[in-house]
Amino acid sequence: MSYGKALRGLVSKKIFDLRSDTFTLPSPAMRARMSTAVCGDDVYKEDKTIVELESRLASITGHESALFVLTCTMANFLGLAVTCNRGEEILCGDMSHIGLYEQSNVSQFTGIGVRTVKNELDGTVSLQDVRKRGYFSNDDFHMSHSKVICVENTHNFSGGKALTLEYLQKLKSLSTETECNVHMDGARLINASIGTGVSLKEYCSYVDTATMCFTKGMSCPFGAALIGNEEVIKRARRMRKAIGGQWRQGGIAAAAVLESLDDLTPIEKDHDMAKLWASAIPALSEKVTVDEPLTNIVIFKCESEALALNIIKEMGEGDLSVLLQQGANPEDVRAVFHRSADYSFISEAIEKLQRIL
Ligand SMILES: Cc1ncc(COP(=O)(O)O)c(C=O)c1O
Repeated sequence: MSYGKALRGLVSKKIFDLRSDTFTLPSPAMRARMSTAVCGDDVYKEDKTIVELESRLASITGHESALFVLTCTMANFLGLAVTCNRGEEILCGDMSHIGLYEQSNVSQFTGIGVRTVKNELDGTVSLQDVRKRGYFSNDDFHMSHSKVICVENTHNFSGGKALTLEYLQKLKSLSTETECNVHMDGARLINASIGTGVSLKEYCSYVDTATMCFTKGMSCPFGAALIGNEEVIKRARRMRKAIGGQWRQGGIAAAAVLESLDDLTPIEKDHDMAKLWASAIPALSEKVTVDEPLTNIVIFKCESEALALNIIKEMGEGDLSVLLQQGANPEDVRAVFHRSADYSFISEAIEKLQRIL
């Protein structure tokens, strides 16, 4: 094939990229707002755009304070590192991002233990397992002390499921009884809120610390936040400096987040597209099953890993390349809907999926 023909083939290839909502790109409005953002040195708390963002985040979540940081991994790390001591431990789901994909960073850098507890299919951590595996008494000096229970909302690997208020109430009672904090990894908390209609304030009223991430469905190029009381945020700000995570003129990044918070309608569309995609699987299929999605993540549960890999491969080939990924379970095929995916391909992608199944 000539070089020119090969190049034309590449240029004309249609790509529907559903690998992750981390592929979202900043919109023209975001870029415009970033270019005119008022900035200052945030270490001196003189970046007015960051101050505005942090105060808005505290207000919409009903907590005293918020800290704007680079990534949600950093926000989770800081939240846990300042509410747990060396020699104590956190409890987190065995299928959670904190448990699987953050390198046990609190253990690596601050001497805090990470104990995993069972994640149920609905994305909750089993409260029964928390009771069984957590160490809450100070009596036995063989044991460390469990100090923080972590939950994830929405839960990525269960297919973007949101925690119910009933569950959060039970969790809160357990945490009070066991004198533990609750930390909510809310990388997709805004998706949870839009999917269920439960306000951010209500969700956050059950937890001591929460994080939010803006580089996923919110489409910002950088940024996440830790939410908590003033004392926690003061300690997190101090520790952020120790790990070199401070901003200087970070208002440029904060401006993109403010713009994104001003218009959440693209997230509703992501959820609608996810529902449409899931409806492509026939209800009684024996090979592939899917739960009706609540937010932007759809997991196809396949009868085997080989089938999952085959679906991913075949969907990636041909004129329209639909990019999918394996989930945390090898039999899972994950599709994540986000505003930078070209939704004009949705019908074609569904037809293709139905053809290969
Ligand atoms: C549930 C969850 N928490 C935390 C993170 C970490 O986010 P970041 O990439 O901003 O560190 C991710 C990233 O995908 C996530 O899905």
